[in-house]
Amino acid sequence: MILVTGATGNIGSVLVRQLAESGVALRALTRDATRAVVPSGVEVVEGDLGRPESLRPVWEGVESLFLLRTGNEDAEAVLRSARQAGVEHVVMVSSLLAETHPGSPIGGGALQGEQVVRDSGMSWTILRPWEFASNALWWAWEIREHGVVRTAGGDVGSPVIDPADIASVAGRVLTERGHGERIYPLTGPVEITPRERVRSIGRVLGRDLVFEELTAEEERERLKQFMPEEAADLVADADSGGGQQDPGIRTTVEDLTGGPPRTFEQWVNDHADSFR
Ligand SMILES: NC(=O)c1ccc[n+]([C@@H]2O[C@H](COP(=O)([O-])OP(=O)(O)OC[C@H]3O[C@@H](n4cnc5c(N)ncnc54)[C@H](OP(=O)(O)O)[C@@H]3O)[C@@H](O)[C@H]2O)c1
Repeated sequence: MILVTGATGNIGSVLVRQLAESGVALRALTRDATRAVVPSGVEVVEGDLGRPESLRPVWEGVESLFLLRTGNEDAEAVLRSARQAGVEHVVMVSSLLAETHPGSPIGGGALQGEQVVRDSGMSWTILRPWEFASNALWWAWEIREHGVVRTAGGDVGSPVIDPADIASVAGRVLTERGHGERIYPLTGPVEITPRERVRSIGRVLGRDLVFEELTAEEERERLKQFMPEEAADLVADADSGGGQQDPGIRTTVEDLTGGPPRTFEQWVNDHADSFR
């Protein structure tokens, strides 16, 4: 039995679908079962990673845990509770910034989170994805309403990864032997700039979209509407090509799943309705 946390999110919703389709026994965790959308037949359980005591009922028979960091979790207590309940293996989503940018707030935080998993007393696997293709959803409202995207670093390429590929890797790691005590860096297949991403969304929608370049300072102010100031500083810096070290293209998705990573345009095709 696998417990999938973040089961309603970008990665988790695909992981739940993939595991359910292959007949693997799983439980999907959410804070609100009345709102959670999961494939029929999948067992949904309620729990809050910030309140580890709420998880006690969900561990029954669980051998493997897919753990998504949410920013409000008590990871140490969650993992203690899991180990005491007999969970043997934990697969955690970290960030490739832990490797490329360990001194940054996000990279440093990711490294700390990894250490908690490594110290958990269970077998562990750490997934380190690069920037998600789904971050383009941050542009969805402006695209729908105004046909425009305003962001910095329009010509800075980044090998964004489709969360579906992270889910595919997680599925392998959770259901096959031999992935214990491994760290897997994950990127998409090619570097693609924000300007190219907007062009790709326009192609799929059949609309002419406008790309408006912001300065790093303008981008920081815009991002503060969606995220904490510290994160906005880092993302704005990265978006404008300043702080983020290029991770290169990693072959892990293909090595582990046997197929090439999905392109940004494939992700857009799957999520076109969000931009209409
Ligand atoms: N975006 C990027 O570019 C990027 C890059 C590298 C790493 N990451 C990492 O990827 C993760 C985000 O993955 P994602 O995009 O798949 O997530 P997401 O779509 O933002 O979904 C968040 C999930 O977390 C659950 N959740 C939130 N707070 C919770 C709590 N207190 N207790 C239990 N569940 C809770 C939500 O479930 P309910 O609402 O149903 O409870 C939801 O399923 C983060 O850890 C982030 O650091 C992101």
